Amino acid sequence: MTSQTAFKTTQSEEIFSTAQKLMPGGVNSPVRAFKSINGQPIVFDKVEGSRAWDVDGNEYIDYVGTWGPAICGHAHPEVINALHEALNKGTSFGTPSVQENLLAEMVINAVPSIEMVRFVNSGTEACMTALRVMRAYTGRDKIVKFQGNYHGHADMLLVQAGSGVATLGLPDSPGVPKSTTSSTLTAPYNDLEAVKKLFEEHGNDIAGIMLEPVVGNSGFIAPDAGFLEGLREITKEYGALLAFDEVMTGFRIAYGGAQERFGITPDVTTLGKIIGGGLPVGALGASKEIMEMIAPAGPMYQSGTLSGNPLAMTAGIKTLELLQRPGVYEQLEQRTQKLTNGLKEIAQKHGHAVQIGQISAMFGVFFTDRPIHNFDDAKTSDVDKFARYHRGMLERGIYLAPSQFEAAFTSLAHSEEDIDKTLEAAEEVMASL
Ligand SMILES: Cc1ncc(COP(=O)(O)O)c(C=O)c1O
Repeated sequence: MTSQTAFKTTQSEEIFSTAQKLMPGGVNSPVRAFKSINGQPIVFDKVEGSRAWDVDGNEYIDYVGTWGPAICGHAHPEVINALHEALNKGTSFGTPSVQENLLAEMVINAVPSIEMVRFVNSGTEACMTALRVMRAYTGRDKIVKFQGNYHGHADMLLVQAGSGVATLGLPDSPGVPKSTTSSTLTAPYNDLEAVKKLFEEHGNDIAGIMLEPVVGNSGFIAPDAGFLEGLREITKEYGALLAFDEVMTGFRIAYGGAQERFGITPDVTTLGKIIGGGLPVGALGASKEIMEMIAPAGPMYQSGTLSGNPLAMTAGIKTLELLQRPGVYEQLEQRTQKLTNGLKEIAQKHGHAVQIGQISAMFGVFFTDRPIHNFDDAKTSDVDKFARYHRGMLERGIYLAPSQFEAAFTSLAHSEEDIDKTLEAAEEVMASL
């Protein structure tokens, strides 16, 4: 691990400065630019296990894990070996393949709501297609999403809706026509009453609800007791579908995702991240009846040149095999809890009001005294303090997501020693904030 005094960023700065001339904001996904913490992005050179090394030679314990996929640790040797073998057979087939069948069977066996699956190339695509199938199946157009939940950047899901326009479905970005988002209704997360009201007003037009069953895209927010059950009941009552976006939580908070962990079975599930083992993959799944709406079995069109790519399938299969081994989720839970309990103690000792949430290998830290149930609560966090905390940790070799509003991840490669080192760094940083 890099010590604070040895920390340098000259190479990162140089590379990012060139990148800014070549790509908008210097990145291919906005949060990587460190803008929300007014920081200078770090350019990675290599990742392995729980560690990452940047182009200046700094070493980090990584809690981003390439935004979720690296649950077995980066570049797990068994995944890499499987990929080497697969590579020898070519990079893309564009036909059915055995690898697709294998990963499909694994996903179907793992995730309670899934009887059939379609593989796509990203979480965005999975959620966009899930929405289309929900609409096709119900013959209804409106959907309900929650403020601060992210389901990728498809037009009709790119709606945040601030307090004054909470249910109006105003687009979040220029270029998204109002007409596209006018069927998107929003409610505050964990607010069953708001959802009931939407259904009372629009119930017969609502195709379904899509949500992050545990939120990672407002920072970490757990569902309140009864929230997921309530959504299941409301959707059943109105003949609407319930979709869990498990792009982040799938195979992370339990092998069968949030639906296994909380015992609530949605109608539709989206997946991504972990099921591609670090290669680009997404998937949507549901009952056979719903999935057979999709072409060529049914009339709803969807396709993809690289969908079911053999390398991505191979990395996914090996990753899920590793996650089936005994004790895996117990280890993830125990190590992550050790970390979050330690962080809570340290924050308290140094007089910082924090809200720290954790489920399995997913956690988050907010600098606020307000308990976090929704995005408005999350926004009370002291983002300047978070930015200073982030910088302090970075300088001490701890790589956290460069935004207050992103969950953090541990992996099977995070050792007890990694957790101890992280807590040592947090002790110094919290003392200095
Ligand atoms: C819950 C959730 N859904 C969808 C997406 C979009 O996935 P992708 O970035 O692969 O398009 C993300 C990405 O972070 C996500 O966290």
